[in-house]
Parts: sequence; C-alpha cells; structure tokens
Amino acid sequence: MLNFSIALIECIDLGFTYMPGTPLTSEALRNINLSVEEGEFIAFIGPTGSGKSTLIQHFNGLLTPTEGKAVFKGKQIGVNIHPYEVRREVGLVFQFPESQLFEETVAEDVSFGPRNLGLSGEEVSERAEEALELVGLSYDRFAGRSPFELSGGEQRLVAIAGVLAMKPRMLVLDEPTSGLDARGKARVMRCLTELNRDGMTIVFVSHDMDEVAEFAHRVVVLDKGRIVFDGDPGTVFSQAGVLKNIGLNIPATTELLVKLSGRGFDLDTGAVSLRETVNLVCNALKGEQRL
Ligand SMILES: Nc1ncnc2c1ncn2[C@@H]1O[C@H](COP(=O)(O)OP(=O)(O)OP(=O)(O)O)[C@@H](O)[C@H]1O
Ligand SMILES: [Mg+2]
Repeated sequence: MLNFSIALIECIDLGFTYMPGTPLTSEALRNINLSVEEGEFIAFIGPTGSGKSTLIQHFNGLLTPTEGKAVFKGKQIGVNIHPYEVRREVGLVFQFPESQLFEETVAEDVSFGPRNLGLSGEEVSERAEEALELVGLSYDRFAGRSPFELSGGEQRLVAIAGVLAMKPRMLVLDEPTSGLDARGKARVMRCLTELNRDGMTIVFVSHDMDEVAEFAHRVVVLDKGRIVFDGDPGTVFSQAGVLKNIGLNIPATTELLVKLSGRGFDLDTGAVSLRETVNLVCNALKGEQRL
C-alpha cells in the first residue's frame, strides 16, 4: 500500500547565512536535507558553532532559510503557511529558558501563552494545570509560588510547561539539560520521554553523548553547517573515529563495548543504552562469548 503520510518538518536544500551581503556575513547552514516524522525523538549533536541552534529555529519559522526551504506538513513556511501558525504547533524551548520567566507566580507564567491566545479564564487555568502536571510539578504545590524561588531544575520545568501550555504537537528544545545537576537532567529527560510516549514529536540539541545514547531514537550530526550523519544511535556512534575527528565524544557505553570487543569479547558494539550495555557486558563476562 502506498504511504501518503506527510512529514511534520522537511528541510529541502536549506541554507542559512547570517547578515548576508554585509562584511559580517557568516554562513551557518548549507545543503540541509532532512525530514522529521510525527512521533520521532531526535537528538541534534555537533561541535560548537556547527549550526544546531540555527537549524532548529527553522522548524518553527523563527528563522527563514536564505536558500532552499523549510516545510511544515507539506506547506512551505513563510510561503504557504504563516510562521505564526507553525509556532502554534511547534513549540520552541530556547537554551536557559528560565531566564525568560517573569511573572509573579508559576501559574501566571505558565498561563501567559494560552492567555494571549484569547482563551477563556477557565481554559487558561486548565491548560496551566495540565502543563505543570505534564512536567511533573504538582499544580497545588507550585502554582502560587514565585518562579524565582524555585531550584534551577524546577525553573527549567516551569519554562517547558509554559511552552506545553500552548499544546504544540512538536517540541523543539535547545540544550534542555545544560547547567542542571544529574537529578535535574534526569527529570527533564524523563519528562521528554513521557511526552514522546504519549505521541509528541521531540527534537532536542545536546552536548551530552550519554544522554543522547540513552534517550534519542535518531541522531543527526552536524559539522560546519552540514549534516554528516543521520541515523539510529547505534549506527551513528559506531563511527567513533569520525566523531572524534570533528571534536565529539562517544557515549561511555559505546566506549566500553568497543574496548571489550578489542580485547576479544564477542559483543554488539552498536548497543547504546545503559540497560542493553549492562546486559551485554554481564553475558560476555560469563565467559562463553570470549573468542
Ligand atoms: N546572531 C548571529 N549572528 C551572526 N552569526 C551567528 C549568529 N548566531 C550564530 N552565528 C554563527 O552561525 C554559526 C552556527 O551557530 P549556532 O549557534 O547555530 O551553532 P551551535 O551548533 O548551536 O553551537 P553551540 O553548540 O555553541 O550552541 C556559528 O559560526 C556562529 O558564529
Ligand atoms: Mg547552540
């Protein structure tokens, strides 16, 4: 049977140059071809300056390509569909989003977006409550508190809730766990995993390879404004040499499996999650798999 499903986002020969035609011109992206399907959970990785933040800002029409096109559900953004309409469906969470919290209470902050949509007061509160519960913050405990009296991790979750309150079908996050401690990181990633399980498309940028290995279902690697790999985490991280050459680490799990394999253990070095790796190593250590 033919499959007529349309990608949520498509980038076709997309290029982007900051300040074109000026002495400060800088080409950030070139020849990007990519599609994001509904329900995916994708990590974008790449060294500093490789174009990750620039690329994801095309997904909700915040930036307009200077070459090629960005397409939302078959409609070219800025031509067949207005960026405002795309922004209602694709929520963008900037890096350090908590720096944009400004209301007196958590509930007011999370309600800011829905209130601007012109919804009734009742709908606005319902959305705020639902969004806070989605990020794992109890409405009763947090609604009345000042966002400035929360921990950094809680502030981050409130900022994410503010975007979720707009009920997007896709969430795009720029380094959502940067600057958080292990527990804060885990809370954010658990929240994204649950949202994805419930059907939301998630795209996130990360410098933490262990996090990417653990959570992403697909990894897109950028270097100097181009896509150099796009595939499942096992396949992408098996390219350790190329990744190291462009300045990226590989996950600790991959590193361990590659080392054991080099010492004669017969195991699948394409496994990336911690659970899979522990199982493989335990089996290998039982002895039978040693060559
Ligand atoms: N506002 C801007 N004006 C001019 N050039 C910019 C601007 N923002 C980014 N650039 C340039 O575009 C390129 C890509 O930057 P971008 O911020 O997308 O990289 P990144 O992969 O997100 O890096 P990082 O990991 O450090 O966040 C870099 O060369 C950067 O200097
Ligand atoms: Mg960036």
